[in-house]
Amino acid sequence: MNANPVLTDIRLTAALTTQEAAARRWTELRALVEEDQRAYYQRDAPMVSDAEYDARMRELEALEAAWPGLAVADSPTQRIGGSAGTGFAPADHVERMLSLDNVFSLDELRAWASKVERELVEEDAETGFLSEVKIDGLAVALLYENGVLKRGATRGDGRTGEDVTANVRTIACIPERLGGDPSTHPALVEIRGEVFMANADFDRLNAELVAAGHAPYANPRNTAAGSLRQKDPAVTASRHLRMYAHGIGALHWAHGEHENLDRQSRAYELFAGWGIPVSPHNRVVRGVEACLDMVEYYGKHRHDIEHDLDGIVVKIDALADQQRLGVTSRAPKWAIAYKYPPEEVHTRLLSIEVGVGRTGRATPYAVMEPVLVAGSVVRQATLHNQDVVRAKGVRIGDVVVLRKAGDVIPEILGPVAALADDGFPRSDWVMPAHCPECGTALRPMKDGDVDLRCPNARSCPAQVRGRVEHIGSRGCLDIEALGAVTAAALTQPSVPDVPPLVTEAGLFDLTLEQLLPIEVVVRDAETGAPVEENDGTHRRRTPFRKRATYTKAGRAAALQDGEVLPEWVPAAQAVTLLDELERAKTKDLWRQVVALNIRHVGPVAARALADWFGSLAEIQAASVEELSAVEGVGPTIAAEVAAWFAEGWHGDIIDAWRLAGVRFATPGHPGPEAMAANLASGSSVVDGPLAGKTVVVTGSLENYTRDGAKEAIIQAGGKAAASVSKRTDYVVIGANAGSKAAKAEALGVPILDEAQFAALLQR
Ligand code: IVH
Repeated sequence: MNANPVLTDIRLTAALTTQEAAARRWTELRALVEEDQRAYYQRDAPMVSDAEYDARMRELEALEAAWPGLAVADSPTQRIGGSAGTGFAPADHVERMLSLDNVFSLDELRAWASKVERELVEEDAETGFLSEVKIDGLAVALLYENGVLKRGATRGDGRTGEDVTANVRTIACIPERLGGDPSTHPALVEIRGEVFMANADFDRLNAELVAAGHAPYANPRNTAAGSLRQKDPAVTASRHLRMYAHGIGALHWAHGEHENLDRQSRAYELFAGWGIPVSPHNRVVRGVEACLDMVEYYGKHRHDIEHDLDGIVVKIDALADQQRLGVTSRAPKWAIAYKYPPEEVHTRLLSIEVGVGRTGRATPYAVMEPVLVAGSVVRQATLHNQDVVRAKGVRIGDVVVLRKAGDVIPEILGPVAALADDGFPRSDWVMPAHCPECGTALRPMKDGDVDLRCPNARSCPAQVRGRVEHIGSRGCLDIEALGAVTAAALTQPSVPDVPPLVTEAGLFDLTLEQLLPIEVVVRDAETGAPVEENDGTHRRRTPFRKRATYTKAGRAAALQDGEVLPEWVPAAQAVTLLDELERAKTKDLWRQVVALNIRHVGPVAARALADWFGSLAEIQAASVEELSAVEGVGPTIAAEVAAWFAEGWHGDIIDAWRLAGVRFATPGHPGPEAMAANLASGSSVVDGPLAGKTVVVTGSLENYTRDGAKEAIIQAGGKAAASVSKRTDYVVIGANAGSKAAKAEALGVPILDEAQFAALLQR
């Protein structure tokens, strides 16, 4: 499989310099595209991703442009969609059902618009466009005679489709009789539209299938297509299909032309008046820039609407202009589809590796041939655990469907069944029995757990690396120079053999002498595989030192004085790291508690513990009961804290850090007894303008980040809560606040704007 079909194919095409070679490639492509079309239109089981199909069509078009002799009448480029399919009675469309031409970039979309505008030589300032969401479903033509539904048909080859009337009649939103004023009903009208399955209905259907022990469907489009082409209309009826109208075919009025019908948008209004659903997302706009805005908007909000979409369709709104521009053999010249980068692609599964994280969990992940999906190159996807690998039914060597919805993490959906026998070697994968990083036997943490863990928490290099990286993170000691790369360099260097940090106990004792020699192998950010040099050795980096440079004069002077000039000097990174570690020793107690990597103890629980006990010694001395009595701690966290202190090697960490100068206390804190006495006497435990108050922040504030606002509330003695209730004292409202503002109003909770909030904090 090609890593990037678009690039590879265009390169291929460009290289074809003889007509004979071009014809050979053309024949090959035609066979592929025809097979793709049969799989897609007749079997509802595509073999290639939409992107690959589009790329093949584009290459065919490019070949035909270069060698016009190839553009024969029955080329797939000259035909529309699938031919009339199997099993259903043929239905001849009254007027031909066309397809759409595609563009894949904003520049191409602009170019299309300028060409159209040139041809129309519009006198008025800007062309009127109809900009629509491209629904990822399947096209139908509904034939109404005198307001009564006579036939529903699929597109087929554009002239003849399949008669699916019985199934169409089960779709609740398609009226049997047109509504509204009967005098507006044409003698005959073909309404074109897209049948689709809403994402919510698709998810529900899949949940039911899985609950009943069946395999889920791959995506809403194929499910909708399969559901509409069911032999048994009762099955179609159970699937909750929907439809939006997006076009007009034949139209015969009983009494001459309908007076107002001059625009496609006006036709939609008529349809809506008749009870035919029209997409609520359509926009009537002037000028192509507004269409580009729509492309941008839905690029970001692709998953915020009720159905899957794969592009934006731009149409000339005025029907007279549509007529003037006309059609090609397969598509109108007055409309174009902008297609988003694909979110579902096919690629080859090369291997399944196992990674070990901070908590020791062993997670299998897929390594694939790199592939462009939804705008970025993906090589890896998590497979969670061995049960998930089994459930997905993937083998190494399979071509798999890879999905990346929006910003969401890439996910393998399963193998492409139609390509199971493509001759590529396959092998079954088995979960390794030992930790890939330290060789310890993997086991579940407790009986019945699916996840396997490496029990060598103390010195498994992967776990130490994870914990050290966590210590540097923003919600912990916030050490900028201690990120993922530095954590790996400190715990898994290629030089020296023994890492400076065998456990995190030595973190605050690091010295420049220890850092300088460190060399690390550069790893690919996506696959984690070592990057090779041309000579087969691994590329290395020295993160903490750089080659010394000298001026000629400086070198000469030093040599004259008999000095030995060092070859290396510390890199800024080394100095910064040691500086930041030094400062971390006196940071807030709660940060130092988070740095211990106690399960379930993140910033919230750590603050609760630090605020009450005032020092690590007091936390350590507390019983499980005393710990769980603290507001915001509770029995689960209390048990984890106690269990953490009971582990011998954890004591070594505390001792070493304390010896290195980590403060582990809040200066001036009165201790837990005084806190309890205060609480009993009813006086406020903490002071500050928000002492004892619960505050919810919603929407975005100008001068505070989300975490910043939370921090300010806590600093002022208040509690930052996530949801509004009767017990909330204030709700602070920023821009684009959602339902929480309404809830506050309904409950009569005082509402503050940002300025009032700032004033309150100042008090
Ligand atoms: S207009 C003559 N508008 O996309 C123009 N088509 O890839 C006919 N589609 O065959 C189509 N949403 O099935 C139009 N808002 C929309 C659409 C849409 C989805 C489908 C339609 C068409 C296919 C072309």
